[in-house]
Amino acid sequence: MTKKSLQTRLVRSDYVPPSGFDAFPTPIHHASTVLFKDVASMRAGDWKRKDAYTYGLHGTPTTFTLEARLAAIEGGAHCLLAPSGLAAIAMVDLALLKSGDDVLLPENVYNPNRDLGRWLSTDFGVTARFYDPLVGGAIADLIQPNTKLVWTEAPGSVSMEVPDLRAICAAAKEQGVLVALDNTWAAGIALRGFDVGADIVMQALTKYQSGGSDVLMGAVITRDQALNDRIAASHMRLGMGVGADDAYLVLRGLETLKLRFDAHDAAGRKVAAWLKTRPEIVTVLHPAFEDCPGHDVWKRDFSGAAGLFSVIFDARYTQERTDRFVDALIMFGIGYSWGGTHSLAVPYRMQGMRREWADAGTLVRFNIGLEHPDDLIADLEQAFAVL
Ligand SMILES: Cc1ncc(COP(=O)(O)O)c(C=O)c1O
Repeated sequence: MTKKSLQTRLVRSDYVPPSGFDAFPTPIHHASTVLFKDVASMRAGDWKRKDAYTYGLHGTPTTFTLEARLAAIEGGAHCLLAPSGLAAIAMVDLALLKSGDDVLLPENVYNPNRDLGRWLSTDFGVTARFYDPLVGGAIADLIQPNTKLVWTEAPGSVSMEVPDLRAICAAAKEQGVLVALDNTWAAGIALRGFDVGADIVMQALTKYQSGGSDVLMGAVITRDQALNDRIAASHMRLGMGVGADDAYLVLRGLETLKLRFDAHDAAGRKVAAWLKTRPEIVTVLHPAFEDCPGHDVWKRDFSGAAGLFSVIFDARYTQERTDRFVDALIMFGIGYSWGGTHSLAVPYRMQGMRREWADAGTLVRFNIGLEHPDDLIADLEQAFAVL
């Protein structure tokens, strides 16, 4: 063959690296185009099968490896990645709900999930109804013939009620309704969603799995092949691709997930116990504490706790004063999300979410990071002084 021009040689190189390289990290495969050996194998390609590659959107060795590891942590069989936790929630809704269907969501659900439900109601002919997260088996009374999906979140990620998932799942199963669990808080470590009867486990990998406050990603894990295939169709139609570098970061995070989670748990309980002694705080909403609605369910079903919990200030402290308390914190960042190494504090308005919170004082949610808990307590102590 004639010698190729520089322009071509810049695009196409004959160099092939020596084989036999091995190392611990999963290789990062960047790809939109996936190359086929010949046209016949291209024609034979099926994007739904995970034993072959068709297009970057449907998977590379990097994303397949992450999916397999996440499914194994939850005790599931299939996993689909999405570009954020919220995208994973949307992927489930759009796979399973159509005009005329009904979805049940807990009143304390992650707010954008609530907003998505409302949007499906106003613009897409689906009804979204909200239930008391402590409803338990009485969810049976809310299920209608057109109810197709029940969302659960354990615990609610702001108000922290722990739902009786076993009772909700059993009641829904009896009426042939699917249950999706947002298991982001327990991360498949403190609770495995399928063990309590969920059909679909969703996780925001943005939190503990990535652990670095630097990645947005979500996962939908199932056991049933047909259910996975329905959600996979939604994954494909919505173009839910994730970047290889982000997938790599989550894979790297998974190796230390249990150790980090346990450290967040221990530090969270220590800080929460200290906050419980403070006269400014009336309620510590931490599932491992008796104040928390659903604490008994947590004791029965969970093997640990995340580092995310909330407290309610005495109603005599106005919002302006509790805002000043949060502003005075030095070690706690002010910002959304959680599960990272840095501690965070966020004040929330409880009014308007659930009726019983109409008179509640300000709620402040804490993400306890991996700083030493004694330093965090010292910081909280100096911030209480400004109250
Ligand atoms: C309980 C819960 N679910 C889902 C999400 C969504 O995750 P993401 O931020 O990756 O969209 C969040 C994020 O804050 C969350 O707290």
